[in-house]
Amino acid sequence: MMPTAVIVGAQWGDEGKGRVVDNYAEGADLVARFQGGNNAGHTVVVDGVRFAFHLIPTGIVRGKLSVIGNGVVVDPESLIQEIADLASKGVSVEGKLLISENAHLTMPYHRVLDKCQEQALGESAIGTTLRGIGPCYADKAARRGIRVGDLAEEEVFRAKLKSNLEEKNRLFEAIYHQPTLDFDETFERYRGYYRQIKGMITDTSVVVARALQAGQNVLFEGANGALLDLDFGTYPYATSSNPLAGAVCTGIGIGPKQIDRVIGVVKAYTSRVGSGPFPTELADAEHPEIVDRMRAVGHEYGVTTGRPRRCGWFDAVVVNKAARLNGLDGLAVTHLDVLDTFDRIPMCTAYRCQGKTIDYFPNSLARLTACEPVCEELPGWKHDITGARTMDGLPENARAYLRHIEELIGVPIVMVTVGPEREQVIRIEE
Ligand code: GDP
Ligand code: IMO
Ligand code: MG
Repeated sequence: MMPTAVIVGAQWGDEGKGRVVDNYAEGADLVARFQGGNNAGHTVVVDGVRFAFHLIPTGIVRGKLSVIGNGVVVDPESLIQEIADLASKGVSVEGKLLISENAHLTMPYHRVLDKCQEQALGESAIGTTLRGIGPCYADKAARRGIRVGDLAEEEVFRAKLKSNLEEKNRLFEAIYHQPTLDFDETFERYRGYYRQIKGMITDTSVVVARALQAGQNVLFEGANGALLDLDFGTYPYATSSNPLAGAVCTGIGIGPKQIDRVIGVVKAYTSRVGSGPFPTELADAEHPEIVDRMRAVGHEYGVTTGRPRRCGWFDAVVVNKAARLNGLDGLAVTHLDVLDTFDRIPMCTAYRCQGKTIDYFPNSLARLTACEPVCEELPGWKHDITGARTMDGLPENARAYLRHIEELIGVPIVMVTVGPEREQVIRIEE
């Protein structure tokens, strides 16, 4: 599958990218994040120990060189916390973690703005992770952002922080009625962060280019999910970056021809956290037992925010869109075990929208909200599959369920996971 593979979420995030990357990372030399920030929460479970990643690539658990690319927005406080959490579990980032000097810094005022903007939206709030992701990418696009590399030049950092704080503090006073942020305190705090991370800051595009030149195996770890994409997701209920394979090029600094394979991660059902349309959603009040099972077995609570996730059946319209946008070569289907107890399992194959059946995902939110899922029902397998390690070890109905996904999406399944542990995985020969 190597030398380069991209692993992306093909639904609304939390598909299990972390554990799929962890599996592929065994054969990788370098693992890199290319977009998003600490809105991401990627879980890897090794021998009962649960690791939650927000900014650091999952490959660090296997001691692989881990790169935070220029397309990522970096909250240094969160990063330093993550480094400490890893250390407490016996994983050291020493000499293994590199941060792009061109990555933008998430600042305290981005977090405050995120909260103010959400509050101002009231009923239409996006349900962001409140990590300041949107405001940080907005400043990047507006060319007033502060980059990780700016920390190295004290006077440059001072000037940029000063002009940003002046503008943000005026907003806080005049529009949002928030306490203003103190320049000296913020400046000193970020100088302190810099002292802790300065040995990791470099031109990571050169590091990745050298690895590729040397024929090394490089893995790109997507965050969030295709339907949260800023351009193609359920805008404005989306994140502020492009969680698609195409973003690897600009988020790392490589050309499109250097990507060999693209793997999309999908849950065997669907989940979403935050607001926005979700055609196959099961309302808690109407299907409490189904949603409870999905939440309990699938750990459907946000890794970053702890919010219970919204859950629903597999939606082939969603995954088809993600397959097209990413040019998927393979699917990794996770959480199959969560469906173990159901008699019959609905699968959405099309939408019924204003009297018409459609097989595509409408861009208009108004049309999308008017869509009802058209479902087929597949027989369940009513069997504990958490011990299966081969396709033959799965009950026939579970295999039929997977075959049906392959047929509907037109992309071969290359991996199936049957529990959160590293070992609970079925790899299919590619
Ligand atoms: P990511 O953001 O895509 O990396 O996914 P998250 O880590 O946010 O959410 C996935 C959750 O499901 C985590 O709690 C995982 O430990 C858990 N998980 C991953 N794969 C499986 C699986 O095959 N079965 C079950 N039951 N849980 C899984
Ligand atoms: P991983 O990488 C699930 C969602 C938020 C919100 C919207 C915008 O763990 O799959 P933001 O804070 O990015 O401005 O929030 O996007 N969201 C995610 N949902 N998994 C994620 O990451 C997400 N990252 C952002 O819930 O609806
Ligand atoms: Mg997650």
